[in-house]
Amino acid sequence: MSKYDNFELLDQMEDLDGLPPIRNIPNKQLQYRHPKNKVNREIESFDTSLLEERENEFNFSYGASKHEKAWINDSLKDFYQQNWFEDILRLIKGGGKEASVYQCLGNTTTQHKYIAAKVYRPRKFRQLRNDSLYREGRLILDDEGHEIRDDRALHAIQQRTNFGKRLLHTSWIEHEYQTMSLLFKAGADVPEPLASGNNAILMAYIGTDDIPAPTLNTVELDQNGAQRLFEKAIQNVEIMLSNHRIHGDLSAYNILYHEGEIYLIDFPQAIDPRVNRAAFPIFKRDLTRLCEYFQSQGVSCDPAQLAEQLWEKHGYIPNASANASLVETEFEDGL
Ligand SMILES: Nc1ncnc2c1ncn2[C@@H]1O[C@H](COP(=O)(O)OP(=O)(O)OP(=O)(O)O)[C@@H](O)[C@H]1O
Ligand SMILES: [Mg+2]
Repeated sequence: MSKYDNFELLDQMEDLDGLPPIRNIPNKQLQYRHPKNKVNREIESFDTSLLEERENEFNFSYGASKHEKAWINDSLKDFYQQNWFEDILRLIKGGGKEASVYQCLGNTTTQHKYIAAKVYRPRKFRQLRNDSLYREGRLILDDEGHEIRDDRALHAIQQRTNFGKRLLHTSWIEHEYQTMSLLFKAGADVPEPLASGNNAILMAYIGTDDIPAPTLNTVELDQNGAQRLFEKAIQNVEIMLSNHRIHGDLSAYNILYHEGEIYLIDFPQAIDPRVNRAAFPIFKRDLTRLCEYFQSQGVSCDPAQLAEQLWEKHGYIPNASANASLVETEFEDGL
């Protein structure tokens, strides 16, 4: 049995400093394929007369407080000026762990009637969850999604200077965007990611004109519906595994339900099982939380067994303790 089988241990590791140091960090740090940066593409092909018209005004219908307005202005004005949306209509959900999400009125550029803008909390207000458990083996990405290799920047990150923290914050957002892009292209049920930058991610909005889709934990399903959606959820988990991704915070709270279908959201902490030594226990925790909801809706499932089956099916080391044994070695580099 892996020392991580007890999920409380995983939670404690989030509170401590993630995984203990390892001497030989897997050197197969993987190159992520970066989707063409749509923000930049838009800037290049942008009609400047429109820009001039819009340059100085960014007023929106949503009645934000003064502080929130400044934050929105800082994070979303560029997207507005690049014609990603016409208006901000409402706050879908504020006060989340990491972000507030707004429903915006789309326009011809986006070709979506509405889009959702996930705006990350300013760093100083963020609950500083210890994230090194999830960052092991990851590249550190700049705001264009490229790996940061600059020694000075890496040193700043290691020393946790303000500059370093800002870089990490950006990297966190880019990882969410790249994960969504990868999974959307692979056919997973995730909202289509549209653009990222400036502390925000734009994506397809899920919901009706007036009511954003509820999260699955608030939905009561009939037996057939529950079984069908459970299978759908597992299909999505398998798409993720075959693309070397584990959600890392999967539960009915991070699944939207709309017109009988599900959409997985909230990916900043997603991990790559090839480079993260806690991957299996994190995966098992995901399945356990997912099954908790479906069990409450009458589906019978055994998350521990399912985790092992899927893990092996997708070619990962079947014995979780193989991962755990790595953890016994010492770290030198806390990135
Ligand atoms: N594409 C979308 N369409 C409609 N609603 C969305 C969309 N994305 C997110 N939401 C809403 O915003 C909420 C927060 O999004 P998300 O889970 O990505 O952020 P978070 O900061 O981790 O929040 P939390 O701590 O509540 O999980 C979701 O629970 C959902 O209600
Ligand atoms: Mg969430």
